[in-house]
Amino acid sequence: MKVLGIESSCDETAAAVVGAEGLLSDIIHSQTVHEQYGGVVPEVASRAHAENIVATCRAALAGAGIVRPDAVAATSGPGLLGAVLVGHCFAKASAIAWGVPFIGINHLEGHLLAPLLDAPDLEWPWISLLVSGGHTTLYLAEGLGKYRVLGETIDDAAGEAFDKVARVCGLGYPGGPAIEALARHGDAGRFSLPRPLRGQLNLSFSGLKTAVIQLAAREPDANKADIAAAFQDAVVDVLVSRVVRAAAETGVRRVTIGGGVAANTALREALRQTDLELYLPPRARCTDNAAMIALAGRLRLLAGESSALDLTARARWTPSELLPP
Ligand code: KG4
Ligand code: ZN
Repeated sequence: MKVLGIESSCDETAAAVVGAEGLLSDIIHSQTVHEQYGGVVPEVASRAHAENIVATCRAALAGAGIVRPDAVAATSGPGLLGAVLVGHCFAKASAIAWGVPFIGINHLEGHLLAPLLDAPDLEWPWISLLVSGGHTTLYLAEGLGKYRVLGETIDDAAGEAFDKVARVCGLGYPGGPAIEALARHGDAGRFSLPRPLRGQLNLSFSGLKTAVIQLAAREPDANKADIAAAFQDAVVDVLVSRVVRAAAETGVRRVTIGGGVAANTALREALRQTDLELYLPPRARCTDNAAMIALAGRLRLLAGESSALDLTARARWTPSELLPP
């Protein structure tokens, strides 16, 4: 069964085909139009998705050497609602036209399952750290559709903190890769920043973000690379300590990561310093992509599930909730 997956929840218009043999094609069109605004403008994102979705899906089908998939999966949330709706409705319409099943996928479940694209033998259960622009959550994934939240941020997402600190350092959007590049030339020990932890396995990034903003205001002549390095060091420390603790508390040593911040080299290297059993997807499968949506759709369909055609798109949706009927 070859499944066309479509992703349009933020600023990537993406389509991919996954079959029994694995990933057959993987097309990502990253919208650059938002750079001039310093962040993703929802309305602009929706229009750009509408412009690009047909060509992106055609390229994915051509890359897989097929003219018609056996099913169509799409991100049905969470995300920018107008953006999600483009891919979600396009997938439904295509499924009707082709007479094949449609399946609406939770974007977060896509990130949770993405490691299986490169490690198909990965066995349940595993701990998953999802760190993106909108989410910072630690999950225990016990089986398909069985995801338990172990901890999450009580305020900002880690990616959001990267983006805000990037702005303070005079860098553009997206901030994460820019901070990572700048931090390479900085001395992380030059400034000491807080490493806030909350409760059992929860996290918090707003205090750290405020500390960086205050530091930049207090020391306007400070080397921005040192600030970037100190900030990145603090985020990595906090994330790694939570993962290590989650593994100790659950007794589950297999760990995967996903979401844009999971592409961060310092985070990946710090995780490699632990004695955990790591499954780190390649960077391109940590950031938003459609391969993970096609894979999640295929696994759900193989489990006998599909979605009704009146399934609505959702701006908010945690993966611990079941798929709507
Ligand atoms: O998962 P994602 O592509 O989109 C969603 O938010 O769903 O994540 C985007 C976030 C942005 O905040 C971006 O700054 C951050 O991931 N990011 C990074 C890196 N690459 C992307 N943060 C730190 N280091 C990176 N290399
Ligand atoms: Zn994402």
